[in-house]
Amino acid sequence: MLHAARYGREPAFESSAPGRVNLIGDHIDYAGGTVLPMAIEERTHACASRSDHDRLASEWTGDPAWSRYAEGVLAELRASGLAIPPLAISLASDVPVGAGLSSSAALEIAVARVALAAAGATLEPRELALLCQRAEHVHAGTPCGIMDQWCVAHARSGEAILLDCGALAWQPVRLPAGLRIEIADSGVRHRLRDGGYAARRADVESAAQALGLVHLAELPSSRWREIDALPERLARRARHVVRENARVHAAAAALARADLAAFGRLLSESHASLRDDFEVSVPELDAIVARAEATGALGARMTGGGFGGAAVVARSMAAGGPH
Ligand code: GLA
Repeated sequence: MLHAARYGREPAFESSAPGRVNLIGDHIDYAGGTVLPMAIEERTHACASRSDHDRLASEWTGDPAWSRYAEGVLAELRASGLAIPPLAISLASDVPVGAGLSSSAALEIAVARVALAAAGATLEPRELALLCQRAEHVHAGTPCGIMDQWCVAHARSGEAILLDCGALAWQPVRLPAGLRIEIADSGVRHRLRDGGYAARRADVESAAQALGLVHLAELPSSRWREIDALPERLARRARHVVRENARVHAAAAALARADLAAFGRLLSESHASLRDDFEVSVPELDAIVARAEATGALGARMTGGGFGGAAVVARSMAAGGPH
């Protein structure tokens, strides 16, 4: 085991946190929109023992900057007044890195949980999520929304989470029997820090400002026509945000009435919008979505921040196909 091999002692504290897949609602969490993510089976495990200073070890080789996320979480916990002792921490994860499945939020929440255990302290999931988001902003330099940390901190297996990111109000959503969710990894690796994510967020904020709003997703449909007057690129970004937000509500309603066909159509519309108006897809993801649609899927879309990563595919179990 990594911990004993690296530090010469067994860990005294252990924790874990899952990755997540977003079913629908991408690039709208930071616009105050509503999103529908759920935890995946893959998890990040953190072990810790007391030490004379902080030490970090990981089997995780995907992103050389991973330690910044862990250090950031420890710094934010201490800055919030919690007496976290110096810790030797080891991490192992089977959440794919750079796949749009929230490997960073899983790491952050796992580290926070193991550090809290070592301090004999607890935080409500809401505070945990906000603290980890702050760590990512300040220490990793990614201006992420709240979706990933919130989902990872609150997720229960078998349930999705319908989260209003403006109000931070949420409710669990059960998936209807007969719906199968698959994840198809394009193998193209993204780095949210590479600038595309921040550029999209800046576009969304410019559009909101031009329309006199704090949260672009809150533009009522009676005002959607005002989007046409924005500069062309901002108009496309804004169109994605307001329509994607509406699609999430429609998708949750479709799930509630077990209308799998409608749910699938919304996923595919979401992909087209992320590809054409928001421009965060890549050809490999477009090909996965097209292939899924051509082979009987209810619908499919890229998931997460984009620029590579994975697609989520919805299938009807009744339609057969491999399990
Ligand atoms: C990343 C961010 C999230 C969200 C998604 C896109 O996963 O961490 O906050 O913005 O991209 O929906």
